[in-house]
Amino acid sequence: MTKVICIVGTRPEAIKMAPVIRALAAEPRFDVRVLATAQHRQMLDQVLRVFGIEPDIDLDIMRPNQGLATLTARLLLELDGVLLAEKPDVVLAQGDTTTVMTAALACFYHRIPFGHVEAGLRTGDLSNPFPEEMNRVVAGRLARWHFAPTESARQNLLREGVSDSQVWVTGNTVIDALVSVADMQPDTGLPIDDSKRLVLVTSHRRENFGAPFESICRAVREIADRNEDVQVLYPVHPNPNVQTVAHRTLGDHPRIVLCPPLDYLPFVGAMQRAYLILSDSGGVQEEAPALGKPVLVLRQETERPEAVEAGVVRLVGHDFDRIVGEAQRLLDDPAAYAAMARGVSPYGDGHAAGRIVGVLREHLG
Ligand code: UD1
Ligand code: UDP
Repeated sequence: MTKVICIVGTRPEAIKMAPVIRALAAEPRFDVRVLATAQHRQMLDQVLRVFGIEPDIDLDIMRPNQGLATLTARLLLELDGVLLAEKPDVVLAQGDTTTVMTAALACFYHRIPFGHVEAGLRTGDLSNPFPEEMNRVVAGRLARWHFAPTESARQNLLREGVSDSQVWVTGNTVIDALVSVADMQPDTGLPIDDSKRLVLVTSHRRENFGAPFESICRAVREIADRNEDVQVLYPVHPNPNVQTVAHRTLGDHPRIVLCPPLDYLPFVGAMQRAYLILSDSGGVQEEAPALGKPVLVLRQETERPEAVEAGVVRLVGHDFDRIVGEAQRLLDDPAAYAAMARGVSPYGDGHAAGRIVGVLREHLG
């Protein structure tokens, strides 16, 4: 038996690792353990519940308004203890969070081979997104297996000197997760007015905290003010830096619904119901194009250029006029809207997890 520990810490990691955990568990030769760092507590539990995953080990790391250095130090210490005790043959983790960076580093110290799911995404700017670009560069430097979602992610790794023999283009497992639920057309369970066009908003990036996030919220309010036929739905990330500003600037608007983070199924239902999505989320940039929903990305740069190149996602940053102008154009101009509302899926075909497990099967003899 090959002992594989799958590490998950935050909401998107659990969504994107769930298909991998499921595929590994289906093969008797793998002894699969799930380690939840619980860098996110409530949002991780939400996802684990939906996908029926029970962690074997739970580090319960999250603290309110946690700082990056403290989070990193605590994760590294706890992961060190687990790897020492469990002695896995392989560790897998997905993405670019502090959980993933510390998992790769702890594996390096223990000389345990580390497989990086969603490898090779880069903006080339260590401050954007912050701290994720640094996290994935470190994970990429330390990984034994690089599971790149796209060819351009593979090219990024080759440019950094990673050997071609260690990189596989698998697609992104988020599309596996999405297709496993999208056919259900889940209900949002929220007071959505069907006679209005739904604008779905998510925002949580650390580099946007402060003035940029204030500007984003003012722009969302302006879009609602200008368009009587628009309703905004914004599931607000629990980070206090986000909660305070979102509720202060948007909480009293009659056509803006603020709610706690949605479970994955209702959120997919909200994306399916949306006319337009405004988001700084990585996962949403990948899922929405597959559902044919235009996304205005509330960031200066993206490590996911494929959907931008396909013309179905547009970078608008955090400038008030730019956000309002681009959203208004899509609300007013049917041709501009139709050009962006094409269902394309540059990030995967729903079979990424099977490819990842296939590589491990082959390489672990
Ligand atoms: C983290 C990741 C980011 C990822 C995002 C996904 C880092 C540094 N950041 O950002 O890359 O895009 O998750 O959502 O790894 N909180 C709760 N309950 C929860 C989750 C968070 O109350 O279930 C609050 C806590 O006060 C916590 C704070 O949010 O301290 C920040 O959580 P943290 O994981 O540090 O950062 P995120 O902004 O969530
Ligand atoms: N998501 C969710 N509920 C919400 C908002 C988002 O389930 O209220 C899902 C979304 O479909 C995507 C993932 O969470 O798969 C994105 O997570 P997040 O935006 O927190 O992180 P990022 O992708 O930016 O790292």
